Amino acid sequence: MDGRKRGDLEACRGCCHKVTPGKTSAGADHAPVAPAIVCKGLWKVFGDKGSQHLSSALGQEEADTEAVAASLIDRGLIPAVRNATFDVHASEIFVIMGLSGSGKSTLVRCLSRLLESTSGSVHLGGEDLLQASPKRLIELRRTKLGMVFQHFGLFPHMNVADNVAFPLKMQGQGKNERLQRAHEVVKLVGLEGREDAYPRELSGGQRQRVGIARSLAADPEVWFLDEPFSALDPLIRRQLQDEFLDIQARLKKSIVFITHDIAEALKLADRIAIMRDGNIIQIGTPTEIVLNPVDDYVREFSRDVAKGRHATVASIMKTNGKLPTLNKSGPALNLGMTLDDALASCVSTYKPVPVVDGEGKVRGAVDPADLTAALQVDHS
Ligand SMILES: Nc1ncnc2c1ncn2[C@@H]1O[C@H](COP(=O)(O)OP(=O)(O)OP(=O)(O)O)[C@@H](O)[C@H]1O
Ligand SMILES: [Mg+2]
Repeated sequence: MDGRKRGDLEACRGCCHKVTPGKTSAGADHAPVAPAIVCKGLWKVFGDKGSQHLSSALGQEEADTEAVAASLIDRGLIPAVRNATFDVHASEIFVIMGLSGSGKSTLVRCLSRLLESTSGSVHLGGEDLLQASPKRLIELRRTKLGMVFQHFGLFPHMNVADNVAFPLKMQGQGKNERLQRAHEVVKLVGLEGREDAYPRELSGGQRQRVGIARSLAADPEVWFLDEPFSALDPLIRRQLQDEFLDIQARLKKSIVFITHDIAEALKLADRIAIMRDGNIIQIGTPTEIVLNPVDDYVREFSRDVAKGRHATVASIMKTNGKLPTLNKSGPALNLGMTLDDALASCVSTYKPVPVVDGEGKVRGAVDPADLTAALQVDHS
């Protein structure tokens, strides 16, 4: 993985998510910002009379998610998403990760109402999506929601500019206006000069950029991307990830991004939700997922990931008790420093090392013993 990673700054832990330097986001100034998406108790059950069976199973006394899912499976139904509850913060990249068949695509399709949920609620910017009329849904898709899928269906008979401008045509925008906007977003994804090319004349990576440009053309507030880079070779994939982060730094969309690649998740995410068998089993920052996996399934995802490169000093520092004072000649760490970098500064000391924030104020201390413990490779 290359060094370009979403801001390594850990913001104030416990109240905010990670914040890219310079980014005005939900946690950056402590202003209460409403979540972009609020998903509560969402179920999607495939199969005959799924809804009926789900309500009767949910109606049972003391029916927990596992018991409800088991009774649905006994009836030959597929509970693809089971009681999913989470928020997506404004302007964050919320990554959903899990093995094939764990329910990622089903969940994101329910969030965008490409699929009807069997039970539960989804609010987008405060609006109850599941109550939206068909007319309102079309409006939301045209103006607020953007979607990119793994194999983006470009129109083969339209050139790049027309493909990208297509959603604007659907909005009723005039030709000049929409082609000008198409030019802007084509430039944003690095395809300037290829506006007249047809999809068949483009590489896979270029086609995917057109797909991204097309979904960005209408300037969506909430952006859903389902494994948009997984068909690409690793080099192009990394390049598109970098460009994706650059675009996000400028546009600050609220994003739900699906992947089954841990390196991609760690690179892009503000927070990661891990899915297994339709359940969300852990939600956390990349650091939390790597350092504190809730079980072996999550640990398995991150076992080959070098913790030192992902976790920051903030994840292991102590803030209680008497903090060491800053000594001009002694070592000091920065909040956003990775554990690898911190280790280099701590090699010659056995005492807790002060951790300073951007203004040079001591915010906590790291015990070198905790640092080496956190960097232990997991052989379990
Ligand atoms: N239309 C459908 N009818 C019946 N079952 C379905 C349908 N769509 C998905 N499923 C089932 O729901 C479960 C979750 O599928 P989903 O496509 O959401 O998984 P995924 O995590 O996106 O997997 P992948 O990484 O392979 O894309 C699977 O068991 C799948 O077979
Ligand atoms: Mg999928």
